[in-house]
Amino acid sequence: MWRINNNVFLLMGLWAFISSSSSTVFASVTYDGKSLIINGQRRILISGSIHYPRSTPQMWPDLIQKAKNGGLDVIQTYVFWNAHEPTPGNYYFEGRYDLVGFLKLIQQAGLYAHLRIGPYVCAEWNFGGFPVWLKYIPGIEFRTDNQPFKAAMQKFTRKIVHLMKSENLFASQGGPIILSQIENEYGPIEWEIGAPGKAYTKWFSRMAVGLNTGIPWVMCKQETAPDPFIDTCNGFYCEKFKPNNNNKPKMFTENWTGWYTAFGGPVPYRPVEDLAYSVARFIQNNGSFVNYYMYHGGTNFGRTAAGLFVTTSYDYDAPIDEYGLIREPKWSHLRSMHKAIKQAEPALLSAYPTVTWPGNNLEVHVFESKTACAAFLANYDPKSSAAMKFRNRKYNLPAWSVSILPDCKTEVFNTAKVLNKGGLAKMIPVNDLSFSWQSYIEQTVTTDDADTLQMQGMWEQLNVTRDSSDYLWYLTDVNIHSNEGFLKNGQDPILKVMSAGHVLHVFVNGKLLGTVYGTSNDTRLTFSDGLKLAAGVNKISLLSVTVGLPNTGLHFERYSSGVLGPVTIEGLDEGTRDLTEHQWSYKVGLKGESLSLHTDSGSSSVEWIGGSLLVQKQPLTWYKAIFDAPTGDDPLAFDMKTMGKGEIWVNGQSIGRHWPAYIASGNCNDCNYGGIFSDSKCVTNCGEPSQRWYHVPRAWLKPTGNLAVVFEELGGDPTGISLARRSSGEVGINGSLEMVSTV
Ligand code: GAL
Repeated sequence: MWRINNNVFLLMGLWAFISSSSSTVFASVTYDGKSLIINGQRRILISGSIHYPRSTPQMWPDLIQKAKNGGLDVIQTYVFWNAHEPTPGNYYFEGRYDLVGFLKLIQQAGLYAHLRIGPYVCAEWNFGGFPVWLKYIPGIEFRTDNQPFKAAMQKFTRKIVHLMKSENLFASQGGPIILSQIENEYGPIEWEIGAPGKAYTKWFSRMAVGLNTGIPWVMCKQETAPDPFIDTCNGFYCEKFKPNNNNKPKMFTENWTGWYTAFGGPVPYRPVEDLAYSVARFIQNNGSFVNYYMYHGGTNFGRTAAGLFVTTSYDYDAPIDEYGLIREPKWSHLRSMHKAIKQAEPALLSAYPTVTWPGNNLEVHVFESKTACAAFLANYDPKSSAAMKFRNRKYNLPAWSVSILPDCKTEVFNTAKVLNKGGLAKMIPVNDLSFSWQSYIEQTVTTDDADTLQMQGMWEQLNVTRDSSDYLWYLTDVNIHSNEGFLKNGQDPILKVMSAGHVLHVFVNGKLLGTVYGTSNDTRLTFSDGLKLAAGVNKISLLSVTVGLPNTGLHFERYSSGVLGPVTIEGLDEGTRDLTEHQWSYKVGLKGESLSLHTDSGSSSVEWIGGSLLVQKQPLTWYKAIFDAPTGDDPLAFDMKTMGKGEIWVNGQSIGRHWPAYIASGNCNDCNYGGIFSDSKCVTNCGEPSQRWYHVPRAWLKPTGNLAVVFEELGGDPTGISLARRSSGEVGINGSLEMVSTV
């Protein structure tokens, strides 16, 4: 069955040479129907996603090393446009956004990189990676055949490619990048919109090829990918996927290791047995590149989490957890599988599989050439194990499993036989640390505030804030004439507010009347409640809050949030008063934000109160405390269980949004993904906050005198906030259980 694909597709010619003047290795990267070909050699490549801004640069070397130890060859990352170009033409590549530094670390570790430039990335990242200013370019329509959009996309893509070239980061220049990606999962959108989508694909294909990176490009989930682009598969399973041309390798660019969490949703979980099964099935079906999305998910620091209420944690149930610790048994089990696959590599790359079916739900794939033989024995029965005879030997296959025999004899790995179970990660309170909180109450803004914008009617939130803040005040006055007899039948009138989302706090005459919020599936909301109005002028203050901007879809230019109306008061003597077309005043952001209360210098600009006067359970309150870092270098997190919703900073850096008041609910069966496990019981967080702990990166702490600041929207008890150490309870690389310290 041995056959070599005659029609080897060479993207950039068959050159590979070693520079005579330095040790830089210039690599040729090409492909054929079997695999990527690096320096003339076919390769089975195991890859994992680690997004550089979702951890600190101090964590990067360790994460990359753990990925390498776990048997990875490639690190995959998106490029995050809105972080790199915060205002048009002004670029930022520092700190967590030091893309070049990240890629150089990958290179130093001897790994390859897959750079997904996009620049649309999805990724549960704010606005899918698009800068918000893009929305306000006249005539723009996103992700279609639209001139202003294409011009901006091309400019940024070129910027990144030129940056990579100037740092010699493409493999063709001796760098680690063996693969790039343009757009992201554009196939379904192209299908949906037809002709303009096709024209856009044609345009961005030409544009990308014209950048002469010297390495192959992929388009994920886009079967219309023209040559030489490789169309690739994303999902939980991809064994049935076939690239659109026999000369392209079969690649799995996103194998979801778990899933993201949304506030109000459960914490997803994917058993490693199922993940390994999905990889083994892909490889036995001639797959040659598998990427774990995510290998390390990390944290959505600051306001980088996308709409749909994505949590600050982007843990993803990945093999390396949010804090950078190895998650067991996931990490070790996959590592064992990678070893087995690498043992089988010579056979996998020199032959196409012969498939036989020795029984019901049983399947055998044999890769046999003159020099090598590897076999995969599979039992697809979701419930029952099976005994199988293969070449005169007996093998026991658990339900829903694949065994790998790199020499066609010895079972070195079975996807369902997990040897080390590993300890469950723990959050261990730091007992000798208590916080002495002080509070400052954020003022409720009214039309009397000098610093407001006056406009007719209701304005879309982003249009006013340009996402400079989550918060926007909508303010108006309601005049009630004393003799009017405004209380019809002595009943309180009803204030009704319709909003596109995501959260709304309603104040009347400075007092909170109520709070409503949407869900991750539908962020729209309606507020409706009785209100007391006084004769004369009544102040209506609506504080509308976004929780990240959406990251999926096509028409980003049409997304709207905030109070779009109608806003009415029903039950007045005169009937219903419609406030929608009133004169409204707008104020972007919180006073505390404009004073930079989260920083050392800003926080000294107001009077804080503490001790017995500390304000608690009061909506819209700022808290601050000074604390010393616990000794050691184990990861830390704030336990926010007694708080409601808001944002947390340490030494001026935003840890992200907290919302422990949003309890995980819904159909908890949804939190386990994949095959037979899909209806097993939810193992984590049902009935608990979707996110209780918030990662405090060690790198952001000084040994003493750290400033913690919390803005609390709903009202919470800051005295319940504590710091915890994260302990993995991991099983070591050599299989021995490392001691879990109990502090
Ligand atoms: C994929 C997308 C990724 C990410 C993932 C869900 O469809 O390409 O960027 O959003 O879904 O985590």
